Amino acid sequence: MRRFFSLRNLVRALLIPVFLLVAHFSYVVITTGESCITGNFCFSPKISKYRASGLHPRASVIIDGTAPTAEELLRRDLYTSKDWIKAVQFYSSIFQDLISVGFLSHKSKSLCVETSNGQDVFSLKQIGVSDSIGIFKKTAKPLVVKGEGHKIPFDDNTFDFIFLGVGRLDQSSRPADFAREIARTLKPEGFAVVQIRAKDTYSFHSFIDLFNCCKIVTSQDIDGLDSKTPFLRQIVLTKESVDGIIGHGDALTHHSKSDGKCSVLGFKEELVRKAEPLILEEPLKPWITLKRNIQKIKYLPSMADISFKQRYVYVDVGARSYGSSIGSWFKKQYPKQNKTFEVYAIEADKIFHEQYSSKKGVKLLPYAAWVRNETLTFEINRNPGQKVQDKGRGMGRIRPAVASTGTFVGDVDEIQGFDFADWLKNTVTEKDFVVMKMDVEGTEFDLIPRLLETGAICLIDEIFLECHYNRWQRCCPGERSAKYQKTYAQCLHLFSSLRRSGVLVHQWW
Ligand SMILES: *[C@@H]1O[C@H](CO)[C@@H](O)[C@H](O)[C@H]1NC(C)=O
Ligand SMILES: *[C@@H]1O[C@H](CO)[C@@H](O)[C@H](O)[C@H]1NC(C)=O
Repeated sequence: MRRFFSLRNLVRALLIPVFLLVAHFSYVVITTGESCITGNFCFSPKISKYRASGLHPRASVIIDGTAPTAEELLRRDLYTSKDWIKAVQFYSSIFQDLISVGFLSHKSKSLCVETSNGQDVFSLKQIGVSDSIGIFKKTAKPLVVKGEGHKIPFDDNTFDFIFLGVGRLDQSSRPADFAREIARTLKPEGFAVVQIRAKDTYSFHSFIDLFNCCKIVTSQDIDGLDSKTPFLRQIVLTKESVDGIIGHGDALTHHSKSDGKCSVLGFKEELVRKAEPLILEEPLKPWITLKRNIQKIKYLPSMADISFKQRYVYVDVGARSYGSSIGSWFKKQYPKQNKTFEVYAIEADKIFHEQYSSKKGVKLLPYAAWVRNETLTFEINRNPGQKVQDKGRGMGRIRPAVASTGTFVGDVDEIQGFDFADWLKNTVTEKDFVVMKMDVEGTEFDLIPRLLETGAICLIDEIFLECHYNRWQRCCPGERSAKYQKTYAQCLHLFSSLRRSGVLVHQWW
């Protein structure tokens, strides 16, 4: 009996702090809740604050003597759940730290973006940042009003502080729109704090490109809330003054438009270093060696996080039939991190055009990628001695029309060539993730140097390049293909110069 009683006393003793906690959490919500002008901002009434220790070393709590009614307690079940309390402690500790370094103050007008239940808003209010509100696609009064990250329902230059917790930018399908809206609603010299999961340098640079409105103040790795995100990177940005933004934007456009060249950035070199090595020696059986090499390819999305990109684009230069690589390889095998890619198929050969009309999400450019806009002759049947199984099956080598002085044997067609580098610059930006496959029967020796020279190469994240040289023939041992003049060494030079420029290029077959 006595043991029973003492056990009960013990339980009771343990329950008292829990009750205080419950009372406390309910109190904050109720007071802020009742005084909240929803759709606008919540102004908490004066709360007497006592910092209580013992809850969490870095969390601070407001204790108030007023006990809520039983009904209120029931209504606020959510706010007393274990997960809620844990999350609030987590956010409070982060916000306290931000206050201590001056990125946040009790007077900051604050916004939490894409907060489903408002735990972060709650934490802000709790530590005394009373002018705080959250947005989410579903309202959760009184902490969260309706609104989404890509369309923040507030005026320009409204907030001193904007918070985007972990997972919210990572999982958004429109990170560039989020960045634009944060930049718009943040006051000049205000602070935005964005938490991301990714830690590789590639994704960090994509992130910086997205937020070119702003300057990075700090970036640090911190412990995450739970096992789903054991660590995270927290980046503090500040919006430069209006003059600063215009100046910065101008500088960027001018930079990429005028001199065209892009510098080799360390983070790109890092990817190239991690890539599969180039095959330095000419393979005796290229149809085996090069084909097998494809199994060893280290794809960019298997080395880095590609979440922070505006669009995802695949450009197939020399696409031939839909099934030859878009359908059989890119759609099925290329790792896409669950992103939807826009596909451009560039194919001049008419024989393939019709099948593309039924492919959704694939834009066909029925021209030849070339170094300028001009009419070209397109060699269709080029091997007089050899039986051509599928007449014109994309085997065309292209040359400017003027140069076609009897060097071709077989049918010659006229086609429209276009300035590929120019097209690329008008079609994608550095904020986009761009993958390119190029199989253009020798024209790579014109196109790649042009891409390098114009700087358009910097717009491409990853290239799969088939380089055409006088390779050993499968049919006839000891004989080289007469189709191409270039040697393996010249191909290797093309690949290495691309990699030296920081381009992740793979030997394709
Ligand atoms: C991929 O996207 C789909 C649809 O948006 C989603 O249901 C699925 O959970 C995602 N998978 C991963 C691994 O993110
Ligand atoms: C090439 O032609 C396209 C389509 O007509 C045009 O948009 C582009 O500006 C031209 N490029 C150059 C460099 O003339």
